Amino acid sequence: MTDKFVAAIDQGTTSSRCIIFNQDGAIVAVDQREHRQIFPKPGWVEHDATEIWSKVQAVVAGALAKAGLRAEQLSALGITNQRETTVLWDRATGRPVHNAIVWQDTRTAALCTELGGSDGQDRFREATGLPLASYFSGPKAAWLLDNVPGLRARAERGEIAFGTIDTWLIWNLTGGTDGGVHVTDVTNAGRTMLMNLETLQWDGQILSAMNVPEAILPEIRSSAEVYGTAVGQLAGVPVASALGDQQAAIFGQACYDTGTAKNTYGTGSFLLLNTGNRPVPSKNGLLTTMGYQIGGEAPVYCLEGSIAITGALVQWFRDQLGIIRDAEEIEPLAASVDDNGGAYIVPAFSGLFAPYWRSDARGVITGLTRYVTKAHLARAVLEATSWQTREVVDAMYQDSGVRITTLKVDGGMTKNNLLMQHQADVLDVPVVRPRVSETTCLGAAYAAGLATGVWSDLDELKAHWRKDAEWEPRMAPEVRDAEYRNWRRAVERSFGWLE
Ligand code: G3P
Repeated sequence: MTDKFVAAIDQGTTSSRCIIFNQDGAIVAVDQREHRQIFPKPGWVEHDATEIWSKVQAVVAGALAKAGLRAEQLSALGITNQRETTVLWDRATGRPVHNAIVWQDTRTAALCTELGGSDGQDRFREATGLPLASYFSGPKAAWLLDNVPGLRARAERGEIAFGTIDTWLIWNLTGGTDGGVHVTDVTNAGRTMLMNLETLQWDGQILSAMNVPEAILPEIRSSAEVYGTAVGQLAGVPVASALGDQQAAIFGQACYDTGTAKNTYGTGSFLLLNTGNRPVPSKNGLLTTMGYQIGGEAPVYCLEGSIAITGALVQWFRDQLGIIRDAEEIEPLAASVDDNGGAYIVPAFSGLFAPYWRSDARGVITGLTRYVTKAHLARAVLEATSWQTREVVDAMYQDSGVRITTLKVDGGMTKNNLLMQHQADVLDVPVVRPRVSETTCLGAAYAAGLATGVWSDLDELKAHWRKDAEWEPRMAPEVRDAEYRNWRRAVERSFGWLE
């Protein structure tokens, strides 16, 4: 039997990556490139969508060259992406009308408060599973329509296309101005705040409340089906999956059974729990969101705890404070002391997401004395990730009654043993990392391979999952409880900085 290969593009917040997998789900080649982060004002974050598209083309070429493969040897291409980041472009020229507004951007905070009106933050929660927050794409699109001169009229005339990054890439991959398909999948559409979770279609009432013309929106499809055929360097390859990166990760982690969960540590961290074929409403600050939908099968839903800043705090410590030169240096620095010396850092750089949804929160460092050194701060940086995760795990239990008994983890920060040990300690459950830690790309590849017959079913995919490392909890309960109380006090001090 000749081996089959599936490529996946992961277009993330800080970089784009292409990974080619073989039929065993093992990595054949990887290529990755960073793109610029544009910060025009405090709280604003933009990307250049044209730069993203050229970086994506470069990593595809890079991965093919490293694998020694030609495009025609790929059975399928899958797409996974940073979610919520919003691009509007001119259908005739293919040019974006403005920089993409990134998911972390808080410019729509006031618009969201206004949209909530007397109903408040939960006005669209029943229909969409989401609280009104600057995180989601619908208000970002509305902001662009209102702030780019002449754009609304052009949008109403059907000249403008909206997309999250999956849509932007699929449109370009399948021909762009020369017949590119304008589609998105349920997992990405579900993060616009414009899709109804039951019908899996755009919700007319929300569109009119947000003043977003339907003419700009892509068609909503499942996460695993052939949307079109690539042109250019990937000519002839079926573009056969799209999943938001966190949903791709839960798919790559083989969390196909109700009650299974994963946490991905990237720019932020996103803990998703598979809740089966029904959406479970949250009363504790989680999101009700799509998990995945394979072709015409019933959709799978999740509860999600979204944490905006985790890995990005390490980047900030490196780039803005200059305390370390390389992200890897944080672990030995943090390990050079026994504890945080009383310091806590709450990285509310984009407000606080789950379980608080406070756009008015801003970052704080508490507990400083002259005793505190950069090593204690390094520890506080890492601990901020595990405490934020603990808060969403608690909310998940309150919402679903499911007690997570082991946490499957993935993403860049899972290389950090000190962090993973602290994570197991504060959750009081074992933390387990799979052998293929690139679960985001793997999930997109799996979905594309299912759609094109490379793999036959979920059981076949599940059989690929292998454990690589495990951390057992060993913190004394009284220490854990005292530290958690301190963390919560620090979080309270982050509220109310933005009037
Ligand atoms: O919702 C935002 C998330 O999809 C971004 O993930 O890994 O690109 O930071 P990441």
